[in-house]
Amino acid sequence: MAKNKAGKKMWVCSDCGQESGQWLGKCQNCGGWNTFKEIRVENETEAVLQKHSINLEKNSLKTKTIAGVLEEIKGSKIQQIYPFSVKPLNDFFTKGITAGSLTLLAGEPGLGKSTLCLQLLRALFSQDKNLNLLYITAEESIHELARRSVRLMVPQELFLAQANDFEQIEQIILENKPNVVVIDSIQTIFSAKIDSSPGSVSQVSTLASRFLAISKAHNFSIIIVGHVTKEGQIAGPKTLEHLVDSVLLLEGGENPQYRTLSFSKHRFGSTNGLLLLKMEENGLQIVTDPSLALLENIERGVGVVYGVGMNKDLASIVEIQALATSVKDGEFKKGFGQRQALGISGAKLNTIIAIIEKYLNISLTSTDIFLQISGFSKNITDSSLDLPIMLAILSSSFNMPVEQILGSKNNKKNTENIKNCYAGRLTLSGSVRQSTQENVRQDIAKKLGFNFNDGISFGKIKENIKIIGA
Ligand code: TYD
Ligand code: MG
Repeated sequence: MAKNKAGKKMWVCSDCGQESGQWLGKCQNCGGWNTFKEIRVENETEAVLQKHSINLEKNSLKTKTIAGVLEEIKGSKIQQIYPFSVKPLNDFFTKGITAGSLTLLAGEPGLGKSTLCLQLLRALFSQDKNLNLLYITAEESIHELARRSVRLMVPQELFLAQANDFEQIEQIILENKPNVVVIDSIQTIFSAKIDSSPGSVSQVSTLASRFLAISKAHNFSIIIVGHVTKEGQIAGPKTLEHLVDSVLLLEGGENPQYRTLSFSKHRFGSTNGLLLLKMEENGLQIVTDPSLALLENIERGVGVVYGVGMNKDLASIVEIQALATSVKDGEFKKGFGQRQALGISGAKLNTIIAIIEKYLNISLTSTDIFLQISGFSKNITDSSLDLPIMLAILSSSFNMPVEQILGSKNNKKNTENIKNCYAGRLTLSGSVRQSTQENVRQDIAKKLGFNFNDGISFGKIKENIKIIGA
């Protein structure tokens, strides 16, 4: 809203937020009839709040059937969603960025949040050149941002602004009327009207609710960048999470080049999606097949078993390495072995060891067991990896490749050319259950040239362990 409108009468469409200097019977923007309300404003902030309250008032007084609302949406000229030019992004966001949405992008410093935002704007613009896209930075100069944009091949039609002061930022947004605006970051902006320092809980949460009011009153989509601490807290306020429509988490994995992007909350779509991203010289690239990164250096041998893991909806091959060695005399009191797990919880490892001991009659009490899972996920909670974990421990304990533990017919030479992978859940009563989403797992295994082994039972393993004389 222009500054010269302050202190004047104006009319606002209660359906879409369109402003007018006079009363209009029909809104030129959304086509609504008798939707214009008069407001009198002293300053811009007040105008935003008043417009917001008109929306609230209208919404709370009138009830509509679902069919009625859908009809209204169909008849409206307002674009409801801004799709990306990149299909995996559309799938992940559920079609695109919803108009008038407030999204928080949270991640540790240096992970690539600013890079990601520029790339998201690039993908929006490639799809629709008419979009008005704005990036407001409070962290770097617009010169740096422009240079980075060139490197990331961001279209030069994008608008940039540098500001730390909330009131200025609000003015920039209201004057530019962007379809989508990025605010980088919520911790580095402040309002002089709030009596606490930038980044404090009261600054961050009050500013976020002001951005919410702006996005809803004007139908601007706002993406707020927020830093999280190493412990995963969105610095200062966890309170932001309930306030915004969607929370996007950018997280690092064990491999410093890779990041995952997921929704912990998404009002406009599924939170099951997960994107694996790789930081390269020209920005973040979407890795469509996460297994390929791992398979670049596939290993075979004793104690190495491949599993098919699921992280949300994304299936990938994970490598499980186990090392089981006898405790050396005198090294540990009472002869108890050490247990170390990387990539899964210690409790999970202990449970699998207990299952092996009870149902395969193998004592691992004086065996040191080290387990390591490599894949794209930091902490794997997929219980369908229990079976390959057990097989890796057995393979290392008996000092032979997993195929021999399972009594595969292949001779040793053959075994070396065959890539096998496994998935299955173990019950505490000693049986192997089918993995969850088995079809998805089988598909990815097939696609990558792996045999997906099913039909493995405790009985078979036990039989075979007897045959090999263990
Ligand atoms: P950045 O987006 O600035 O992270 P954040 O906003 O989360 O703090 O990027 C983080 C790092 O990524 C930066 O230190 C350099 C690296 N980087 C690349 O490797 N390639 C690139 O193309 C870009 C833009 C950054
Ligand atoms: Mg940044």
